[in-house]
Amino acid sequence: MRIFSGIRPTGTIHLGNYLGAIKQWIDLQQDNECVFSVVDLHAITSPYDKKKFSDNVLQMASAYLALGLNPEKCLLFVQSHIKEHAELAWLLGTICPLGDLKRMTQFKEKSKTQDVNAGLFNYPVLMAADILLYQTEIVPVGQDQKQHVELTRSLAQKFNKKFGKTFQVPSPQISKEGAKIMSLTEPKKKMSKSDKDKSYIEIFEEDEKIRKKIMSAKTDTGKKIKYDPIKKPGISNLLNIYSLLSSKSVKELEGVFADKSYQSFKKDLAELIINYLEPFKRKQKEYLQREVYVKEILDQGRKRAQSIALSTMDEVKKKMGLE
Ligand code: AMP
Ligand code: TRP
Repeated sequence: MRIFSGIRPTGTIHLGNYLGAIKQWIDLQQDNECVFSVVDLHAITSPYDKKKFSDNVLQMASAYLALGLNPEKCLLFVQSHIKEHAELAWLLGTICPLGDLKRMTQFKEKSKTQDVNAGLFNYPVLMAADILLYQTEIVPVGQDQKQHVELTRSLAQKFNKKFGKTFQVPSPQISKEGAKIMSLTEPKKKMSKSDKDKSYIEIFEEDEKIRKKIMSAKTDTGKKIKYDPIKKPGISNLLNIYSLLSSKSVKELEGVFADKSYQSFKKDLAELIINYLEPFKRKQKEYLQREVYVKEILDQGRKRAQSIALSTMDEVKKKMGLE
């Protein structure tokens, strides 16, 4: 099956990104045709530092490799290197109802914290273009992106109905447990890179910082280590993370930690996270020193992805009468 997904190069990649998205990508690359992009055009819809931006893009590409994406199995490229993304987004914008964009939760949330520009408003249309350009069947993402993939589906269906069958209609794939990793400081909110530093664990974070963040993560009243997202959102989130990184079920963990304190559970969790991330950190350092190699991979990816993108655009333009 054809798979597409992407992450914005914001300079941070956290446990939520890994458990919600990338961990699924790694599994999917074995038996599918995978296309993964560093979505820089999406990143610039929020304030960013122009001087650091190209480094952030390269860092994200290195992170993809360090976390286990294999360039022999999947295509990796930078979104802005293939102009057809922006071109298709424009065309899809002409059939996208304004009301649908106004309903998007991510847009409404972001509008509260930053200036609203047209790019932020059109963000989901560009995301639809990313997905539809590659005739994608499956889009592995975290829960927060489900609404955008639903909009993509409806745009594909609308286009197909209006102009004739052109696009594959994609489906979201959301991992059950990793779908929504919560903030360490406010466990009723999702872990997010736009929140304060203490609320998330970065994948390449120093060990000591990981210990501090986990030890100071918000827990709940009571003493029992029990999974109950409503009454005990803090401990439940930590149990969920523990389970995903150890492949022990939450039930098993409740048993193991039945007589233990929050403190000792957190200590164990911090060491688990540190050990889990250690090989990733090592590889990330290596890739960051091999800039030419990483750029070469991105260029190879671009060439192959672009030939798919061009063929879709050809058909789209013909169908729309733009010849
Ligand atoms: P972003 O950092 O917003 O570009 O997100 C990249 C990917 O990570 C998307 O598939 C998101 O759905 C996923 N993601 C972001 N935050 C979380 C979270 N807290 N839990 C699970 N998945 C997440
Ligand atoms: N909008 C996604 C996010 O904020 C990133 C993204 C852009 C994406 N284009 C995509 C994800 C296409 C999946 C498919 O996380």
